Amino acid sequence: MLEGKNIILGVTGGIAAYKALELTRLLKKEGACVWPVMTDAATKFIGPLSLATLAGNPVYTDIFTLDRASIDHIELADRADLLAVVPATANLIGKVASGIADNLLTTVIMASPAPVLIAPAMNHRMYANPVVRANIEKLEELGYLFVGPERGELACGWEGEGRLAKIEDVMDAVKAALSPKDLEGEKVLVTAGATREPIDPVRFISNASSGKMGYALARAARRRGAEVVLVSGPVHLADPPGVTVKRVESSAEMRDEVLIHYPQSTVVMMAAAVSDFRPVLRRTGKIKKDTEPIALELERTPDILMEMGRNKDERFLVGFALETEDLVGNATEKLREKNLDIIVANGPEAIDSDTSRVTLIDRGGGVENLSPMDKEEIAERLLDKVVSMKKAG
Ligand code: CTP
Repeated sequence: MLEGKNIILGVTGGIAAYKALELTRLLKKEGACVWPVMTDAATKFIGPLSLATLAGNPVYTDIFTLDRASIDHIELADRADLLAVVPATANLIGKVASGIADNLLTTVIMASPAPVLIAPAMNHRMYANPVVRANIEKLEELGYLFVGPERGELACGWEGEGRLAKIEDVMDAVKAALSPKDLEGEKVLVTAGATREPIDPVRFISNASSGKMGYALARAARRRGAEVVLVSGPVHLADPPGVTVKRVESSAEMRDEVLIHYPQSTVVMMAAAVSDFRPVLRRTGKIKKDTEPIALELERTPDILMEMGRNKDERFLVGFALETEDLVGNATEKLREKNLDIIVANGPEAIDSDTSRVTLIDRGGGVENLSPMDKEEIAERLLDKVVSMKKAG
């Protein structure tokens, strides 16, 4: 998504400036060209050489010493796909809101037609200051984008709202700012993770699903402008920003929650690894090891996707199929049986991995083998297909 994008990274003078280094690394890893612009104060917190080394580009600091042979601040502003100010002090926000351009960064911001994303970081009282609030409100009204700050421990020793947003959330906001808004108006329901079917109060049947695919889909759909509800089994993943997250444990709870949101959904993506079987009996007491050998009697769980497929109407349904043999044949059968528009077929190696090799099969019989890629990227490719199939009707 970020491949070849020119991102001007503005860094201002706050203790969180060091986090701009990690952000630069992540942006570069995803293929972006990062052009750092630091304020004088920022250079007191981190060395420009560190940022230049990670960015692979010179760091611009001073409006009067730009190398005129290569680039000036107008060219810098013109070439940007996005300007991200991370971290942004109250001072920077105040200057931009007041139209002050007295250093390179504020000049570039004023001269650039690109979207501007601001990640504030400051003391909680500064952030609560009505002047700062009014400045942020004014900038938001003008279309400036904001991410964070969040509540937490602050460098000054206080606890409160003013901490720089998590770098993953800043990355997400960068991608959102550069995303097409082609899912605007859609209500997307996503499921993720494994379910747990209780045996006794401390034991359950489950599987190794990490939830990464479903979370990547929820994040990507949100970035592309959809309203997103994510029904998630127990996972170790942070809530995607801007997404309504409903946490459930068993397949029965997942079904109940999904059916609450199904009627108003326009697109459903069922990435959860729902258990197919559950114990007939849930024992109230813990099973002790001195009990006689026991046999667990299992029954089928309701097939949530099948149920949705029967009441599909105009909705767009995406299912997943995990197959160990005849991937395309078995997955196509599930697509027909469950009345789906697309089925995403993969092998067991996808479970709990950051990457996967998937095959997208559509209701028209189209089969697309994607090369192994990150689940974030699979999510984007799958949504591209959803958008183009919905457009084609
Ligand atoms: N699914 C569901 N409810 C279930 C089981 C599966 O909604 N009780 C959904 C999954 O979320 C997935 C799709 O159905 O989107 C296919 O799941 P999978 O387990 O691969 O296939 P099954 O239909 O359960 O068939 P089998 O396990 O026999 O391969």
